[in-house]
Amino acid sequence: MPNNQSLMQRDLKVLWHPCTQMKDHETLPLIPIRRGEGVWLEDFDGNRYIDAVSSWWVNIFGHANPRINDRIKGQLDQLEHVILAGFSHEPIIELSERLVAITPDKLNHCFYADNGSSGIEVALKMSFHYWLNQGNKKKTKFVTLGNSYHGETLAALAVGNVELYKKIYEPLLMTTLTAPSPDCYAREEGETWEQYSLRAFEGMEEILRRNHEEICAVIVEPLVQCAGNMRMYHPVYLKKLREACDRYQVHMIADEIAVGFGRTGTLFACEQADITPDFLCLSKALTGGYLPLCAVLTHETIYQAFYDEYETMRGFLHSHSYTGNPLACAAALATLDIFEQDNVIENNQKLIRKMAAATAHFTDHPNIAEVRQTGMILAIEMVKNKKNKQPFAWQERRGLRVYQHALQNQALLRPLGNVVYFMPPYVISEEQIDHLANVAWDGINIATQD
Ligand SMILES: Cc1ncc(COP(=O)(O)O)c(C=O)c1O
Repeated sequence: MPNNQSLMQRDLKVLWHPCTQMKDHETLPLIPIRRGEGVWLEDFDGNRYIDAVSSWWVNIFGHANPRINDRIKGQLDQLEHVILAGFSHEPIIELSERLVAITPDKLNHCFYADNGSSGIEVALKMSFHYWLNQGNKKKTKFVTLGNSYHGETLAALAVGNVELYKKIYEPLLMTTLTAPSPDCYAREEGETWEQYSLRAFEGMEEILRRNHEEICAVIVEPLVQCAGNMRMYHPVYLKKLREACDRYQVHMIADEIAVGFGRTGTLFACEQADITPDFLCLSKALTGGYLPLCAVLTHETIYQAFYDEYETMRGFLHSHSYTGNPLACAAALATLDIFEQDNVIENNQKLIRKMAAATAHFTDHPNIAEVRQTGMILAIEMVKNKKNKQPFAWQERRGLRVYQHALQNQALLRPLGNVVYFMPPYVISEEQIDHLANVAWDGINIATQD
């Protein structure tokens, strides 16, 4: 019978894991997972872990969800995959109809990629190409926010700004214009989220005012910069950005890959600002966390700018082999069914309140500078000095200590640097949230001792 140790040994001989310094595994055990059920993951030694990070923010309705499983199994016997150029299939037609119906007004065409980063590439290329098709050759630049993250492929990396992932590859990347992040952790004492986000917008306005003739689009992660340490901002920023993009004739790309499908408390984060972006990128939870798929939605004006005789070469000749995979679409349809049938957005309000209540006392901790929350994302900022928010040096890897403590206590918490966060599947119970809060509290106590 395989166990954790034997599988780890086989694994480390042949695998190279993502986002990992492999040498860490000389001391840090790798955990092979045998099965999942609901919020639980179970390893080969029988240890269980609450998946508090939804397996990189993808899983919303639990592992091995019977309703999603059934739909995929049904699809498997019909059609596993088919080329999407020249051909189509029922699951992708139904999915596109339903996405058009539930996303902000005017978004009425869906283009598909097979992961989030590729979807970002689609939106960037489409925006640039739209302007070119309009006869505008000057627009070649993109505006991004400080501390943003949009994926790991080179263009997605170029429009992101998390140094940890970007810096090394900088010589390979296109240059972008970077506006200050509206991240409200940086607000002054007494300043509200709204006031700070408005103040941060001035930097964006200035960039647009000076450079709009060269700018194709602004790309943002609405409300939460997830990979950028779960930093959050007020919806007013999105409202101002939409107005400015219209004023300056620049596209707005909303990357809801991490925050779409209920994460921020509404089905889509853009709803909280009552805006429609020109491009909306959706992935991760789109398939309930089962299979890779990305949808890039856009509106009629963009679509029509590409619609012409073949010889004009105005078409969008972009593709990925697994674009619109039917199994992934089946998982997405089952996910949308659950949203519809289970009143998920409303029911999540109780969990949102519970996450806040379970961590209400954390702000009294001498090494916690902030506990912030947007919907089903709650983040705890560990600091060395609470008064001036001086962070712990990254080399100290305090978050890793929380991670290790959590693993010994039935929880998968995977801090981002010094930020411990909960981003659990929506099938988590109130008792399980209490458990996570207790584990995080003890873990932070251990991690902040010198
Ligand atoms: C906001 C955002 N955009 C894009 C991506 C990239 O998606 P993928 O990992 O599927 O390439 C991520 C991944 O974490 C993300 O958080």
